[in-house]
Amino acid sequence: MPGNPVEQHYTSGDLGEVILAALRGIGKDIDHLTPDDLAPVDEFHGGQRPATVRLAELLGLSGSERVLDVGSGLGGPSRFLAWRYGVRVNGVDLTAEFVRIAEMLTRRTGLADRVDYRQGNALDLPFGDGSFDVAWSQNAAMNIADRDRMYREMWRVLKPGGKLALQEVAAGPGGPPHFPVQWARQPAISFLYSAAETRAKLEAAGFRVLVWQNTTPEALSAAARRARDTETAPPPLGTHLILGPDWRAMFHNSARNLEERRTELFNAVLERPG
Ligand SMILES: C[S@@+](CC[C@H](N)C(=O)[O-])C[C@H]1O[C@@H](n2cnc3c(N)ncnc32)[C@H](O)[C@@H]1O
Repeated sequence: MPGNPVEQHYTSGDLGEVILAALRGIGKDIDHLTPDDLAPVDEFHGGQRPATVRLAELLGLSGSERVLDVGSGLGGPSRFLAWRYGVRVNGVDLTAEFVRIAEMLTRRTGLADRVDYRQGNALDLPFGDGSFDVAWSQNAAMNIADRDRMYREMWRVLKPGGKLALQEVAAGPGGPPHFPVQWARQPAISFLYSAAETRAKLEAAGFRVLVWQNTTPEALSAAARRARDTETAPPPLGTHLILGPDWRAMFHNSARNLEERRTELFNAVLERPG
């Protein structure tokens, strides 16, 4: 087991085999997969694929951009961006098992020439200054206490004029979240800031806000639907495969935290001024 408690939280050891078995079970050819085949399991954030589409539309991509996905997980969003828009994407993630699975699924979707992953920390990005046109991150920052450093690192690796697209969970006014949630079984690895605090940290890092959208209503309806679906048997392929035996409690708490305004979701597009 990894020493870092965040990596430990996300590591199961056999997730790659579990996902391939589920795909075989629903009749997919595991050597010729598409991002759509994988979307039920590899879009590991609130609102799943529709949320990725919304953020990508907010950002607007021409196809020539070099994109960095920070906290890239199993690679769903990065493969989708490469597949839909033709961009080149580098993913970086703390969890070694996720990086291995992201690489394996990318080969099986035929996107390995456009998408590449490495294990690394958002607080010390393994890329040179000004390497990217776009930095992208969905639901990774809630495991990261030192946001000032995370946002400074994103600013550093962006070219002047480059953009940052974020989907983040923020602390709401309703009190601390109920645990377990998808990103933490206990408070020790959960670091939420209010939307206003997050915005101030981004601006202090040098970013200019282009778009700021509260997406809590959309997140709540998606989370409430998922919580209701826990009453029935889970689908063969879904993020419950990643989450382990307490996935039902996590889905319930996600909906309850949003309902009780303990958490909020927002999308933002920012610019590193040129
Ligand atoms: C809920 S998952 C989201 C994955 C992916 N962004 C997606 O939306 O499908 C959170 C991810 O953030 C990663 N993560 C957490 N802390 C990190 C850090 N300090 N540096 C890099 N990745 C981190 C975790 O390993 C995990 O893959």
